[in-house]
Amino acid sequence: MAFDPSTPNLARMYDYMLGGKDNLAVDRAAVDQIAAHIPAAVPLARANRAFLQRAVRQLAAAGVRQFLDLGSGLPTGGNVHEVVRDVAPDAKVVYVDHDPVVASHARALLEEEGKVVFVLADLLRPAELLTTPEVTDFLDLDEPVAVLLVSILHFVQDADDPAGMVKVLRDAVAPGSYLVLTHAVEGIGEEQAEEKVRDVYRGSSTGGATGRTMAEISAFFGDFELVQPGLVHVSEWRPDVPGLIGDQGLPAYLMAGAARKR
Ligand SMILES: C[S@@+](CC[C@H](N)C(=O)[O-])C[C@H]1O[C@@H](n2cnc3c(N)ncnc32)[C@H](O)[C@@H]1O
Repeated sequence: MAFDPSTPNLARMYDYMLGGKDNLAVDRAAVDQIAAHIPAAVPLARANRAFLQRAVRQLAAAGVRQFLDLGSGLPTGGNVHEVVRDVAPDAKVVYVDHDPVVASHARALLEEEGKVVFVLADLLRPAELLTTPEVTDFLDLDEPVAVLLVSILHFVQDADDPAGMVKVLRDAVAPGSYLVLTHAVEGIGEEQAEEKVRDVYRGSSTGGATGRTMAEISAFFGDFELVQPGLVHVSEWRPDVPGLIGDQGLPAYLMAGAARKR
């Protein structure tokens, strides 16, 4: 994908939602439109990021030493390798995103010799991604990997076969690996408000957003075993502090889960 300052860009919109500075007026206007229709959108983006951090910290504590963060987004506070490093300084993290803006920021800010690498690639072509030397020279796919698909699958359209794409990833990783994801559920808010939000995403770099049923979201895990507490509202996945301030009253629009390959 090419840099286009006139079209709202998913990575920059998300950066704005998280309170970052790497965004343009066009991105802020798009997010403001989304928030006008679904006021929980911005707090949910932050709850999503907090979930990602809790999940990777807990997987590192459980012994996972390799992380593959797909659709990693612009670097922001508490990036995956920073959270993981606190628990497992020897862990390796591969960040993947298809956005060249993300690539330039990430390479400048995230890469650490031997421990962190950024790969500019399209996750819609997972087989290609998994065989690129940037990944194979860095990760040992015979050892467990935590594959992170956090707030990305709802931006993959049905026509692009997200289920098939995730299956390639599940099949490629070793037993003991994890799949971690968040996903928007279908039927959030009023139908009219939802359609307006879909319109905003259709006009953005991502080309659309698709909420899915609980059954469809669960199916992404295949025969991996969901760890406790299962597939739940993003704020309810192992909260560090039950009833975190700011989480109260957030609608259950975004589901989160982590599952292990036997
Ligand atoms: C909403 S952000 C999520 C960032 C991070 N995973 C998180 O949850 O905090 C989604 C990211 O996925 C990236 N993305 C979207 N489609 C992609 C694709 N087909 N291949 C690689 N990255 C993609 C976007 O550029 C964006 O940075």
